Amino acid sequence: MRILITGVGGQLGSALCEVFGYEAVIPKDLPDFDLTNPNVEEEIIESAPDLIIHAGAYTDVDGAEREPGLALAVNAEGTEQIARAAARLGARLMYISTDYVFDGKQRVPYREDDSPRPINRYGFSKWKGEQAVLASGAKALIIRTAWLYGSVGKNFVKSIMRAAQSEPILKVVNDQSGCPTYAEDLAASIASLTRKDVEGVIHTTNRGQCTWYEFAQAVVREMGFSCSVVPIMTEQAGRLAKRPPYSVLSPDRLVSLGLELPEWNQALARFAKVVPLSLSYPHK
Ligand SMILES: NC(=O)c1ccc[n+]([C@@H]2O[C@H](COP(=O)([O-])OP(=O)(O)OC[C@H]3O[C@@H](n4cnc5c(N)ncnc54)[C@H](OP(=O)(O)O)[C@@H]3O)[C@@H](O)[C@H]2O)c1
Repeated sequence: MRILITGVGGQLGSALCEVFGYEAVIPKDLPDFDLTNPNVEEEIIESAPDLIIHAGAYTDVDGAEREPGLALAVNAEGTEQIARAAARLGARLMYISTDYVFDGKQRVPYREDDSPRPINRYGFSKWKGEQAVLASGAKALIIRTAWLYGSVGKNFVKSIMRAAQSEPILKVVNDQSGCPTYAEDLAASIASLTRKDVEGVIHTTNRGQCTWYEFAQAVVREMGFSCSVVPIMTEQAGRLAKRPPYSVLSPDRLVSLGLELPEWNQALARFAKVVPLSLSYPHK
């Protein structure tokens, strides 16, 4: 099977390459492959994959408020080209989407058939990407995930690790809840999903839920730092983009396929064992 993966330099893309094996993958990413290029559809057609895992995206949530046109060009129009190519080829498409398509007003986990109502530009651009996938007629699965971290690239866990090495007190938001997800676990479950005949939308995160503050506390504890973590409210964080206060994703559909992911705190403990402290510094 020919597997084309976009965003191979990112957190999830690199984990997917590890799972499938680099030699088995047709890799696509910047700078050679740009989702804003109008030739994307033809480029995919030329590669003739049987399966496309579209993980490449504009992922800077605050940046998307400053550059909404670029976020849409990458996440919506780029995805539309990928989806059109998949439909023309008869290839299977897996589009990686986000918990940020939801407004966060619920207090029970979001199910796949709950209505998206994004409250920031990033979430809106990813939702437009979802719509393009569904409208394309491709045999597609939209995989929504959340709060991703891994060895490659920038993420919350590495930011906390970095700050914990120099600051005695870390102030972290305690009024947003979600599902931290280890890129390695997500990649393994995506590989399992490729072996199942499943279409539509599926939520795929590590099990359980927490706030960013609780997540930071767990990082500090697992890594053995001595700093203290103090809870603050979203307004005190001064971020540009609004965030959904609650974006926990229901695992029910995934569980019904026998593909439950481990608890988020167990996944974090595994990550803590493999990530050297030096990796907390961004290297991309
Ligand atoms: N990170 C999260 O917390 C999170 C949560 C929910 C869902 N997701 C979704 O999960 C997927 C994977 O996320 P991730 O955390 O692995 O993202 P990531 O680490 O930011 O990787 C995204 C990759 O896409 C590339 N990219 C950006 N703009 C591009 C363009 N114009 N053309 C081609 N490639 C481009 C990036 O390249 P550069 O690094 O050079 O820009 C990077 O290699 C994304 O679809 C994201 O929306 C992520």
